[in-house]
Amino acid sequence: MKAFPLIRYGNAHEAFEERELDVPTPTGTEVLIKVEGFGLNFADVMARRGLYQDTPPLPAVLGYDVVGTITALGEKVQHLKIGDRVVALTRFGGYAQYSIAQEFACAKITLETPVSVACALATQFCTAQYMIEKSMRILENDKVLVHSGAGGVGSALIQLAKRKKAYVITTVGSKNKSEIAKKIGADEVILYSEEDFKKEIELRHGLKPMMAVFDAIGGKNFRKSMSLLMPSGTLCAYGVAENTQSKGGPLLTGIKTLLGFGFLSPPLMMMNGNNLIGVNMLRVADHHPLLFKEILTEVIELFNQGQIKPLVDTVHNGQFPISQLAMAHELLETRKSIGKISVIF
Ligand SMILES: NC(=O)c1ccc[n+]([C@@H]2O[C@H](COP(=O)([O-])OP(=O)(O)OC[C@H]3O[C@@H](n4cnc5c(N)ncnc54)[C@H](OP(=O)(O)O)[C@@H]3O)[C@@H](O)[C@H]2O)c1
Repeated sequence: MKAFPLIRYGNAHEAFEERELDVPTPTGTEVLIKVEGFGLNFADVMARRGLYQDTPPLPAVLGYDVVGTITALGEKVQHLKIGDRVVALTRFGGYAQYSIAQEFACAKITLETPVSVACALATQFCTAQYMIEKSMRILENDKVLVHSGAGGVGSALIQLAKRKKAYVITTVGSKNKSEIAKKIGADEVILYSEEDFKKEIELRHGLKPMMAVFDAIGGKNFRKSMSLLMPSGTLCAYGVAENTQSKGGPLLTGIKTLLGFGFLSPPLMMMNGNNLIGVNMLRVADHHPLLFKEILTEVIELFNQGQIKPLVDTVHNGQFPISQLAMAHELLETRKSIGKISVIF
């Protein structure tokens, strides 16, 4: 089969190479999927930049979400059959014509569901659903702050928070993203390149108004976000996009990251009644597969009922041909993508 492993860290145009690899064999509860397309995730950009510690040694086939048809089953698979069209969470191995996934991490989807939409459900919406439904309790009119509101996870968070009737404030990096975040349902949008989001929120809503903040940027952004939490409020930290701005290697970047987050004092957090949740969906899938399965099932149901609508990029409807893998990576890296993007064979 054709696969597109990461062969060297750095520039998207030199990082991937087409290689001929053996088709893997599923065992136990695994299924083999003939891949139509795979999703791109910001973690892939971090991996390509050598900043993602879970990445296997190079050459490494990246990829967390795929759409395709099941062509073989491990001996313990119970609920899926050959020929089913599924979206699946993979643990790497997605940038290839065939990929392996665990049965619990697959969901059947209709023939009409586009690859980008399905991949956004599996990764971005499952991440958002975990945070909003399993990690905290949001009530009507609670104020929540979603950073990167026109991104994959951000746009999912806005939709899920609005279902809870929360008051959603979001930050975005450009004017066109601002329009999109409003269309998705955000009540207020702050263009962080023009306004300091902390000052602006304090001006409009007073000190410490936020019941929940969702932050995948990290560093100073995290510190400012923490300072906006009301007593009993929760910050979900689910990424460190800021790392990609660092010019140093992984070690220097790691040190800068730690310093950027600042000092956290548990007694002070306790006094303030603040909650901090670290989110890593790979860990949820590895250590709590039943919970992961529950989240995936809930997300697919919400989609089938028309209650959520993944945001996909407008270029090629978010589905780039494999020949444009590097370009698609660059779009995500340079913050030009809007919503989910995927790559199709
Ligand atoms: N913990 C988990 O399990 C988990 C699972 C999925 C995703 N994630 C994380 O969630 C975040 C969103 O992922 P996604 O795949 O949906 O990507 P995305 O949000 O579609 O794209 C990333 C967005 O982040 C914003 N951003 C802010 N600072 C940035 C920086 N320094 N460099 C690049 N982008 C920056 C940009 O939006 P603006 O232009 O509006 O700033 C950009 O469009 C990523 O950090 C990812 O690692 C975590």
